[in-house]
Amino acid sequence: MVKNESQKINDLIFKELIRKGHSEKKGSKIWNLADSKLLFCSEEQPQAFFDFEGKSKYQKEIDSQEMNIINNNIKNIKNKIKDKSINIVDLGCGSGKKAAKIIQKLKNFNIRYCPVDINSNLIEAAIDTVRKENPKEVIKMQWIISDFDNIENISKSVRYKEYQKNIFLLLGSTIENLEIHEILYNIRRSMKEGDLLILGNNILTKKPQKILELYKKSATLEQLLINIPKGLGFKEEELEMDIKLKESRIEIYYNLKIDKTIELYGKKIEFKTGDKFLVLLSYKYKKKDLVEILNMYFNEVDMKISEDGSYTLVICKK
Ligand SMILES: C[S@@+](CC[C@H](N)C(=O)[O-])C[C@H]1O[C@@H](n2cnc3c(N)ncnc32)[C@H](O)[C@@H]1O
Repeated sequence: MVKNESQKINDLIFKELIRKGHSEKKGSKIWNLADSKLLFCSEEQPQAFFDFEGKSKYQKEIDSQEMNIINNNIKNIKNKIKDKSINIVDLGCGSGKKAAKIIQKLKNFNIRYCPVDINSNLIEAAIDTVRKENPKEVIKMQWIISDFDNIENISKSVRYKEYQKNIFLLLGSTIENLEIHEILYNIRRSMKEGDLLILGNNILTKKPQKILELYKKSATLEQLLINIPKGLGFKEEELEMDIKLKESRIEIYYNLKIDKTIELYGKKIEFKTGDKFLVLLSYKYKKKDLVEILNMYFNEVDMKISEDGSYTLVICKK
């Protein structure tokens, strides 16, 4: 039987539940489902993502800060690209709107756009955006539906004929929701001489408590997150959201309000009132922390900061 998209997503959530398992605290189980790919892979995508992008105050702030800082640094980026033919490998492409703007400004280069995302709908959207925003250019495309775990293979597979140089984009503060050391290690391993990583990320300037308030008010984020326990068969009314701040890390849980047994793929799991699902871990970095981490992986780290100090664009070379 061919599985539909929603069954595949539920499989993925269930596999993560089994793979990561649970810990116990005061007699309750804490199930770890904090993985950014689950956050963005809901069946209602890409609409849920676009709603989030369009309505979330936090995300809007990220996007406008990031676009400004990219515009102000496009010359700098161009100067660091030493080849005429390049692959723009857009890691976690989302709607592709940032890559589309960057491509517009790289007129003198031969570009192959390589969107990478766990969500095939978002890849389609990104390709459309890049084509629409660059109607006069003939842009080659090679899209890859994949988890970030596979970056090394992706990086190899896109190097083709004269397109031997990879410019990796990791924008939209995507790294906040990932294991930063794991992804940077994978990117570094995948890079060859002359490749670049362009990273866009928030800088922690506000008190973390203020960021926590933004998360608490975000109904759009809640719409994305609820899909994770729903994918396992829980109903919204059976769950209660709980947001915590641990130093400079945001943790979001759903607490279970009832006892419930879920049976999936021949496996029965008993959940009890008070059990928790950890659905989001978001790490907030101060400038000095981010520089320190990036310097561990790259020989050249050129960090540009927005006027108000709250956003950074970093161009990294191995
Ligand atoms: C915060 S959004 C950023 C989107 C876009 N880069 C931007 O700046 O607007 C994160 C993107 O990464 C994708 N993503 C998250 N985790 C992923 C993973 N583990 N593997 C592949 N894609 C992932 C999501 O589907 C989403 O499109």
